[in-house]
Amino acid sequence: METTKYKLREWRLSDVASLAENANNIHIWNNVRDYFPNPYSEEDGRQFIEMVLAKPAPATDRAIVIDGKAVGGMGIVPQTDVERISAEIGYWLGEDYWNRGIMTAAVKEMTEYVFLNFPELYKIYAPVFDFNLASQRVLQKAGFEREAILKQAAIKNDKIIDEHYYSILKM
Ligand SMILES: CC(C)(COP(=O)(O)OP(=O)(O)OC[C@H]1O[C@@H](n2cnc3c(N)ncnc32)[C@H](O)[C@@H]1OP(=O)(O)O)[C@@H](O)C(=O)NCCC(=O)NCCS
Repeated sequence: METTKYKLREWRLSDVASLAENANNIHIWNNVRDYFPNPYSEEDGRQFIEMVLAKPAPATDRAIVIDGKAVGGMGIVPQTDVERISAEIGYWLGEDYWNRGIMTAAVKEMTEYVFLNFPELYKIYAPVFDFNLASQRVLQKAGFEREAILKQAAIKNDKIIDEHYYSILKM
């Protein structure tokens, strides 16, 4: 399968319309944290991009761009205190672009970028809802390993679920 061409780059305020259009999707929301807005308005997009642009470099959040439009997002949350050597990764893609290998390639690229630009980080991890087989597959293909199943670790749509904890270590 040939992967559709995409680019990872920093967010721009001009991405607001395309961000809101692609993020406003219950099929995305069902698989991510509850703080991800739904419905997702242009105002939500503007607030997100302004928040991201206010952070110090290097960028922790990047847009996934196809044909010049930001159609997905990816970010890390570096942890604090004794866990400051690890970061959680999160990502989503507009549904029109699913199953073309884009996120697998983007997670690989982001992993390299993170270990290169954040020398304090030794580990990137993702807790994935047990039913989200596409995301688990992405992580497997990007070289992450399933370390553990965290039992009854989350609640989504009023249902208590296990999380599959995937991680990759700095070589
Ligand atoms: C998860 C997500 C990012 C995947 O992006 P993508 O670009 O479609 O991923 P890829 O095309 O690189 O890989 C998807 C893989 O999952 C597989 N897959 C898709 N749906 C599946 C399903 N229901 N069951 C099992 N496997 C599935 C695909 O076949 C593919 O694997 P393959 O290459 O071995 O055939 C995208 O679906 C998305 O944004 N989902 C909503 C948000 C989300 O889940 N974010 C992650 C939270 S942890």
